[in-house]
Amino acid sequence: MRMGIFVCIFVLFLASVSVNGADKEILVKKVRGNRVCSQGWECKQWSKYCCNNTISDLFQVYQFEELFAKRNTPVAHAVGFWDYQSFITAAALYEPLGFGTTGGRLMQMKEIAAFLGHVGSKTSCGYGVATGGPLAWGLCYNRELSPSQDYCDDSYKYTYPCAPGAKYYGRGALPIYWNVNYGAAGDALKVDLLNHPEYIEQNATLAFQAAIWRWMTEIKKGQPSSHDAFVGNWKPTKNDTLANRAPGFGATMNILYGEMVCGQGDIDPMNNIISHYQHYLDLMGVGREEGGPHDVLNCAEQKAFNPATASKNDS
Ligand SMILES: *[C@@H]1O[C@H](CO)[C@@H](O)[C@H](O)[C@H]1NC(C)=O
Ligand SMILES: *[C@@H]1O[C@H](CO)[C@@H](O)[C@H](O)[C@H]1NC(C)=O
Ligand SMILES: *[C@@H]1O[C@H](CO)[C@@H](O)[C@H](O)[C@H]1NC(C)=O
Repeated sequence: MRMGIFVCIFVLFLASVSVNGADKEILVKKVRGNRVCSQGWECKQWSKYCCNNTISDLFQVYQFEELFAKRNTPVAHAVGFWDYQSFITAAALYEPLGFGTTGGRLMQMKEIAAFLGHVGSKTSCGYGVATGGPLAWGLCYNRELSPSQDYCDDSYKYTYPCAPGAKYYGRGALPIYWNVNYGAAGDALKVDLLNHPEYIEQNATLAFQAAIWRWMTEIKKGQPSSHDAFVGNWKPTKNDTLANRAPGFGATMNILYGEMVCGQGDIDPMNNIISHYQHYLDLMGVGREEGGPHDVLNCAEQKAFNPATASKNDS
């Protein structure tokens, strides 16, 4: 998104938009005939996505509190860690690239609900008979509590060697595991996560940034990111179609979790993620019907993008 440096002649003016009653200024210009914008700190880089509402216009602190209502109750495991501002600050890194800013209001709301649905499901401690129901307990954790191993994969010793003593167990809002994923996230975020994986459990902004990086980045070249699969940027190949992979929420589960969740029929781990997404659509005032019917939401019959042998790097 470095379009700004290619500008020869451009028109620059201020647009005043009224969002939720508050006026804010959007800078607009044309680069090679395309309209690009910049909106304050939240959508800073010149980008077509920054011409739209930003996430904080559509999703506000009271909604965050409703979605993650139980995260600060005494029995939760990351009391005081997660907050709205960290999410918005983290999102600002990716809003100019289309995170939560693609496709207009409905798609934007749906993407926020989908991303946070994954987050809620993966960080929930609401199994069993928790008060408020099993879907009220997202962001209960910020790390894996009893890791069974250090998640050091020696086959990456030349690219992302494990630091002595470092443990690459699950951390963050969409927990990342393994040295290779810490290394890659660290490269993208320009933070030395390979040597300091613990930063993610110490800093909620970073914990959300790593999660949004995972959502916005393809696991392998030639595959869609969760974002692209969800908003419809991805065009399935013939192979994808043969493997029952189609754009939508189901594909995001396939990308993030592969066979652990998808291609196994109507299993609980899959339905739990879907339930969080639908619950959040309701709470956000969008309504679960906008998420589509079960056969659009699920990945029960999809073959994994990255089957078993590679799946540990996708967890
Ligand atoms: C911005 O929102 C409009 C609808 O409000 C939508 O049509 C357009 O695709 C969005 N822009 C981008 C870059 O997604
Ligand atoms: C948390 O991480 C963010 C994003 O990398 C960084 O800007 C901020 O300075 C960090 N906060 C602290 C207290 O280290
Ligand atoms: C499609 O799948 C076949 C069989 O699994 C494989 O040999 C081929 O390389 C795939 N094509 C693409 C474009 O991925």
